[in-house]
Amino acid sequence: MRYLTMALSKGRLAELSIDLLEKVGIDCTELKQKSRKLIFTDEKNRIRFFLAKPADVPIYVEYGAADIGIVGKDTLLEEGRNLYEVLNLKFAACKMCVAGPKDLEGKMDTLTITRVATKYPEIAKEYFRHKRRESVEIIKLSGSVELAPLVGLSEVIVDLVETGKTLKENGLVVLDTIADISARLIVNRVSMKMESERINSLIIDLRREIEKEE
Ligand code: PRP
Repeated sequence: MRYLTMALSKGRLAELSIDLLEKVGIDCTELKQKSRKLIFTDEKNRIRFFLAKPADVPIYVEYGAADIGIVGKDTLLEEGRNLYEVLNLKFAACKMCVAGPKDLEGKMDTLTITRVATKYPEIAKEYFRHKRRESVEIIKLSGSVELAPLVGLSEVIVDLVETGKTLKENGLVVLDTIADISARLIVNRVSMKMESERINSLIIDLRREIEKEE
């Protein structure tokens, strides 16, 4: 039997992904050992894993270098890759929001926004240019996006809000919610056909586990 290859997202999602996989009987021992090794295997289940930057996970899956992946919906919306999103894994839940200074609250419809700072330029473009039909300049940042309205780089930001703590501590508020975000299971289009039995059985096991936790 060939190995099924699974791409997991480094960072916030990694530990939660491993917890869930272990609950459905996948051995992640090797993966949890801190080493510089890049590929890990569960010989019994014939699965091999690797950790990649979240934005790269859909790339590996689209090209078939990984059959399956676990990644945030934020990354999927931003990257727009050709693959199947088969299951909402429900963990790492947060919201993609437009946020800005408190004095803009309730004024989104009358406000003229000229600049939007974000780590998610495609999501921001879709929301402002297509949904709201506003011609705004989208400024791509790499992190700490909440800084932008504080120092006058942009009027508003598009960013993830989990607890709301970062916004609150910086005098910012949610002005609109764009999408509900959480971890998703993604599958390569060809693998879904060629390995349908194994992949479907994994989906069923994962779904059962997620429902148990609800
Ligand atoms: C994320 C996000 C917000 C923050 C939201 O940033 O971009 O800044 O977490 O979480 P909260 O609502 O619970 O405060 P991250 O920690 O990934 O850092 P970064 O912005 O520097 O990428």
